[in-house]
Amino acid sequence: MASLLNRPLALACGASLSNRIAKAALTEGLADPATNQSTERHCRLYRRWSEGGAGLLITGNVQVDRRFLERPGNVAIDHNEGIAALRRYALAGTCAGNHLWMQLNHPGRQTPAHVHQAPLAPSAVPVELPGFGRPVAMSGEDILDVIGRFAQAASVARETGFTGVQIHAAHGYLLSQFLNPRANRREDEWGGTLDNRARALLETVRAVRRAVGADFPVAVKLNSSDFQQGGFSTAESLQVVQWLEQEGVDLLEISGGNYEQPRMVVAARVPLKESTRRREAYFLEQAAGIRAACRIPLMVTGGFRTLAAMESALAADEVDVIGLGRPLLVEPDAPRRLLAGVTHALPSPELTLQLEDGAGELDEQERAAAKMWSIQGWFAVQMLRMGDGLDPDPSLSVLHAFRQYQANEHQAAQERNRSGATNGAKVL
Ligand SMILES: Cc1cc2nc3c(=O)[nH]c(=O)nc-3n(C[C@H](O)[C@H](O)[C@H](O)COP(=O)(O)O)c2cc1C
Repeated sequence: MASLLNRPLALACGASLSNRIAKAALTEGLADPATNQSTERHCRLYRRWSEGGAGLLITGNVQVDRRFLERPGNVAIDHNEGIAALRRYALAGTCAGNHLWMQLNHPGRQTPAHVHQAPLAPSAVPVELPGFGRPVAMSGEDILDVIGRFAQAASVARETGFTGVQIHAAHGYLLSQFLNPRANRREDEWGGTLDNRARALLETVRAVRRAVGADFPVAVKLNSSDFQQGGFSTAESLQVVQWLEQEGVDLLEISGGNYEQPRMVVAARVPLKESTRRREAYFLEQAAGIRAACRIPLMVTGGFRTLAAMESALAADEVDVIGLGRPLLVEPDAPRRLLAGVTHALPSPELTLQLEDGAGELDEQERAAAKMWSIQGWFAVQMLRMGDGLDPDPSLSVLHAFRQYQANEHQAAQERNRSGATNGAKVL
């Protein structure tokens, strides 16, 4: 019997996904840092993923304001031209007939200090980690500007051949900061009650929908919880998804955590309940509550590694779409093999990767950075490799990858600074 993974999924906007596997957003860092335009490296990487068989590819986060990036090599859509490059990117990423949705983001206070020392955020509450600047509380006008930017970027996505957009409201970035009472201390209509904290997200969804029309997929990635005392809670997420349903969102992706509490990537390393271990995907329990609260088709990302666990989640109607991230950085064609039933398990390098003994050479500052970023860097380097037309290298040393990642980020930051890119103009 053909796997449930092969079933198409019809979305409310009228579009249809050809199967139930989605490549989740993975920040590429492959843009030209002087212009934040996409490059041929995106085309190579996404052609490979398109041929890999997933019905849906979601791009790494694309920024709506060039002044505030998640990292220097982000693509940004901010009146910075690059339309022809985006068209080539979209063409390559849809070459096998799959959907390709652009993830739209503003990092807010999670903008690294080497990108901007004083990023805009809901309130002047810094990230409690080294490497981030002191955020400046947004004015009402700044908030309306950002909402306008999401809409503008969404219409560029449609115009250039991307087949949908995903609004990033998870992982502690700007829209997730608005939802989080620890980061959002505002006393105006954008802070305080949940209605007010959700306003930035809901207004963004409305503006994006107006910009792209009724027949274009609009998705949202939302935390099921920030997993922090006093943060955005599971109970609150249940209310927000009902509001998102009223807005006609086509697909809801469930994740969790932020930079201070990076559950989206470390959950598999923290002690898990036996039932979670068996079901692999670590946000499935939260997804069950969300499933009961709304009828938006659900994608759950984080931890799925075996065909059996994916089939079981689909068969039990717990999810509609299986999100895959890290496995597709080492096996970009895994979806095709899962769909054909010839692969039953995907790799989980994150469980075994360790900084080697050579890490002793790192100075104190480098060691602190390596603690936070070396595993992420290892995955990032696999993307750089595929962008250069190489195969991923599962045997890559963590230390070597970390050094390559640091050098890449440093060079991109320097190119960005030389280009004077921080003076982005407002769109409104
Ligand atoms: C290298 C890397 C980059 C990521 N970039 C993004 C991103 O741009 N946007 C996003 O929503 N999530 C991002 N994530 C999180 C993934 O989408 C996903 O939620 C996470 O990897 C868990 O799924 P997995 O267990 O299948 O890897 C990233 C994760 C990794 C490892």
